[in-house]
Amino acid sequence: MNKLVLVLLATSLLPAEAANNRPHIIFILADDLGWNDVGFHGSGQIPTPNIDALAYSGLILQNYYVTAICTPSRSALMTGKYPIHTGMQHTVLYGAEPRGLPLTEKILPQYLKELGYTNRIVGKWHLGSYKRVYTPTYRGFDSHIGFWTGHQDYFDHTAVENPGWGFDMRRNLDLAYDLHGQYSTDVFTEESVKIIKDHNVSTPLFLYLAHAAVHSGNPYNPLPAPDETVAQFSYIDNYKRQRFAAMLTKLDDSVGAVVKALSDKNMLQSSIIVFSSDNGGPAAGFNLNAASNYPLKGVKNTLWEGGVRGAGLLWSPLIKKPQRVAKQMMHVSDWLPTLLGAAGADISTLQNIDGTNLWDSLSDNTSSPRTEILHNIDDIYGNSALTVGPWKLLQGTTYNGAWDNWYGPSGREYGYNVSQVINSVVGLALKSLHQPLTPDVILKLRSLADVNCSKQNKAPIPCEPLKEACLFNVVEDPCERRNVAKEYPQILKNLQEILEKYDATAIPPGNLPLDPRGDPKYWNYTFTNFGDYDSTLNLNSLQKYTFTSYYH
Ligand SMILES: *[C@@H]1O[C@H](CO)[C@@H](O)[C@H](O)[C@H]1NC(C)=O
Ligand SMILES: *[C@@H]1O[C@H](CO)[C@@H](O)[C@H](O)[C@H]1NC(C)=O
Ligand SMILES: *[C@@H]1O[C@H](CO)[C@@H](O)[C@H](O)[C@H]1NC(C)=O
Ligand SMILES: *[C@@H]1O[C@H](CO)[C@@H](O)[C@H](O)[C@H]1NC(C)=O
Ligand SMILES: *[C@@H]1O[C@H](CO)[C@@H](O)[C@H](O)[C@H]1NC(C)=O
Repeated sequence: MNKLVLVLLATSLLPAEAANNRPHIIFILADDLGWNDVGFHGSGQIPTPNIDALAYSGLILQNYYVTAICTPSRSALMTGKYPIHTGMQHTVLYGAEPRGLPLTEKILPQYLKELGYTNRIVGKWHLGSYKRVYTPTYRGFDSHIGFWTGHQDYFDHTAVENPGWGFDMRRNLDLAYDLHGQYSTDVFTEESVKIIKDHNVSTPLFLYLAHAAVHSGNPYNPLPAPDETVAQFSYIDNYKRQRFAAMLTKLDDSVGAVVKALSDKNMLQSSIIVFSSDNGGPAAGFNLNAASNYPLKGVKNTLWEGGVRGAGLLWSPLIKKPQRVAKQMMHVSDWLPTLLGAAGADISTLQNIDGTNLWDSLSDNTSSPRTEILHNIDDIYGNSALTVGPWKLLQGTTYNGAWDNWYGPSGREYGYNVSQVINSVVGLALKSLHQPLTPDVILKLRSLADVNCSKQNKAPIPCEPLKEACLFNVVEDPCERRNVAKEYPQILKNLQEILEKYDATAIPPGNLPLDPRGDPKYWNYTFTNFGDYDSTLNLNSLQKYTFTSYYH
C-alpha cells in the first residue's frame, strides 16, 4: 500500500473521531456594551486588559455589526437569519409575553450537536420561555444556569418588568433560589470555569456565556456592582459611569478567568473565542445606564452606527493571520455559518439563512464575501437601515429622534497601560501560543482601531430621518455627520430599492400582548413557563406554594 492511500484512510474519520478534532467554541456575549467601552477602541477611562489582550492577539472586528437591541440580536446569532425573517425584528421579548423564537427555527447548538458538541449556556437567554419547549435545554443546550428574561438585579436576580416583579434565575428548569445574594457576573464566571474544568475533552465544547453585564439592573439599583470594585474608580467623576466601570471590570475579570480555565485544561490551543456586544451601548442615561459609543452617533435601539456597530473580537490559534484589525464586513448572523465552517460542517446544506461563512476571509485576510447588511426594517417603529459597501441608508428613527445624538465620554484623556494588557491574566495565558504581544504591536493596533472623525473635515449636513431618507458614506464618515442624500440621489435610490426587496421577504413581527397568566405574582413571584399551565384553571384559585407541581 502506498502512502497516499494511508493518508486518505487517516483523514476519513468516523464521526466520533472527527468530533475530537473540532475546535472548542467559547462565545462570550456582553450585554449592552458600547463601542467605546473597550480599551482597544481608544478609551483609556476603564481598563479592559483581558478583553484587549484577546483582541490584539486575535482579530479586532472593526467592521462588525450587531442589531440594535437584545432579542433580535440573539435571534440572529442563534439562527443565522435577519430578524425580519423570524418575526423577531421589533423590540424585545417580555417574560409575560406568550411568544418565543419560533420552534421551526433550527438553532446553533442544534447544528453543533450534530457535529458531536456538548452545548452549554450560562447566563441570559431572552428568546422565549413561556413554554418549556422554548427554553435552552429544549433547544439544543445540554444545560443552562442563568435567566430567561432580558435583565436582572445582579444580587437578588429578580427582574422588574411589566406587569410585575419576579425572580428569574434557574438551573435548567429549576429555580435557583440558592444563588440569591451572589453577584451575577461571578455566578456565571464560576459556572463557566467549572464547566471547562469538568469538560470531558473527548467531545468538543460549545460554551455560550451570555453575561447580564453590563445591562442595567432594576430601577431600585440600576448599576449593581460590589462596593470595593466601585471604589477603584473614584477618579471617574460621573457616578453612573463609575458604577458602570465596576460592572465592566467584573466582566473583564470574567474573560480572564474563562481564558485561564481553558489554558489550565489545555483546551486553549484548540479553541475559538468570540467576544461580542449584543447591541450598541445605552449611553448618557438611556436605560438608566452609562455606556459609551463615542465617537459614533446614537445609542442602543437606534439604527445609527452607535446602535448597531458592535465591539467584537475573534481569537483562535486557528486564525492564519492574527494580530490585526480586521476590516472584513461582518454581521452577527454570520457567526452561525462561520463557526460551523470552522468546526468542519458542510455549510452548503444550510438553507435559507442570511449569514455567510466568513471563516476563511477572516483567517486569511481576504475580502469579505459579505458586501451588504440589513440593519433592520421595523414597520411598528417606522425605521429601517441598510449598508451596501460604504453607503448607508437610514429612514425613520426611534424615540421621535430624542436619542439621535453623539454622546461621550471619549476617555481619550486617560493614559493606556500597555504593560497591564501584556501582564493581564489573558496576556499571560496566551503567551506560549503566540508571537508575544509587544507594546509596539498593541499601540499600532489600538490606533488603527480608533475611529477618528476629526479627520473628516468637510462641513456637516444634517439628517432629519423622520422627514426624509438619509445617506451616509460610513467608511469616510463613520460618525454620520454628513447626510449626502442630495449629493448622490442615484445611490440613495439604489439602496431604497434593495431595502424594498428585503422588505418583500419580511414576515410580520411576532410580538403579542402580555398574557395575564405570565404575571409573576401568580407564581410565587417568579417568571415562569406559564403557557404550560392549564389555562382552564382559574389563576386566582392557584394555591399559594403549590404552583411548582403545575409548571414542570
Ligand atoms: C470521557 O468520555 C469518553 C467517551 O465517552 C469515556 O470513554 C471516558 O472515560 C471519559 N473520560 C472521563 C475522564 O470521564
Ligand atoms: C489585510 O488585507 C488588507 C486588504 O487587502 C490589506 O490592506 C492589509 O494590509 C492586510 N493586513 C494584513 C495584516 O495582512
Ligand atoms: C501599569 O500596569 C502595571 C501592571 O502590569 C502596574 O504595575 C503599573 O503600576 C501600571 N502603571 C500605571 C502608570 O498605572
Ligand atoms: C484625529 O485626527 C486629527 C486630525 O487628523 C488629529 O489631530 C487627532 O490627533 C486624531 N485623534 C486621535 C485620537 O488619533
Ligand atoms: C417562594 O419564594 C421564596 C423566595 O422568594 C422561596 O424561599 C420559597 O421557597 C418559594 N416557595 C416555593 C414553594 O418554591
